[in-house]
Amino acid sequence: MKRAIYPGSFDPLTLGHVDIIERASRIVDELVVGVLNNSAKNSLFSLDERVSMIKEMTDSMPNVTVSSFDGLLVDYMKEIDATIIVRGLRAVTDFEYELQIAQTNHVENPDVETIFLTTSLQYSYLSSTIVKEFASYGGDLTKFVPARFIDRIYEKYHISK
Ligand code: PNS
Repeated sequence: MKRAIYPGSFDPLTLGHVDIIERASRIVDELVVGVLNNSAKNSLFSLDERVSMIKEMTDSMPNVTVSSFDGLLVDYMKEIDATIIVRGLRAVTDFEYELQIAQTNHVENPDVETIFLTTSLQYSYLSSTIVKEFASYGGDLTKFVPARFIDRIYEKYHISK
């Protein structure tokens, strides 16, 4: 049984993340979407909000669960008995950082492997940071995030549409 984790901040979940979750869930037996409890970062959405937004989007995916973690990813993976990390690669700019964390995690625990899914072309420019920047100016988010989250994101910026 191959249990994988798709870790991230997901602040907020984008259509690019949803695409990776769907595709990864078809490759592995079980996929845990692991939301980092990054208390140091100033998150737009609380940990609970981020977890429940992902749950809403993955409800109909039978082999996907959502949880949160603190501290090192490799330690959390031992706890939940996962050996595979899934990450999305958008462009060459992601590569250096992703290679570094994949190699660090592998050195920390040689049983841990990272697999990269290349982001679908229509989402190759997309990131949570871009979504937040765009939203803060009241930009149209329909191509960036699941429709049900748009109002919730604007609310964070006190924008009513
Ligand atoms: O969506 P993000 O913010 O790019 O995700 C980064 C994440 C959560 C994968 C990474 O920061 C992480 O795994 N953090 C937990 C601490 C850790 O294990 N770091 C990797 C070793 S350097």
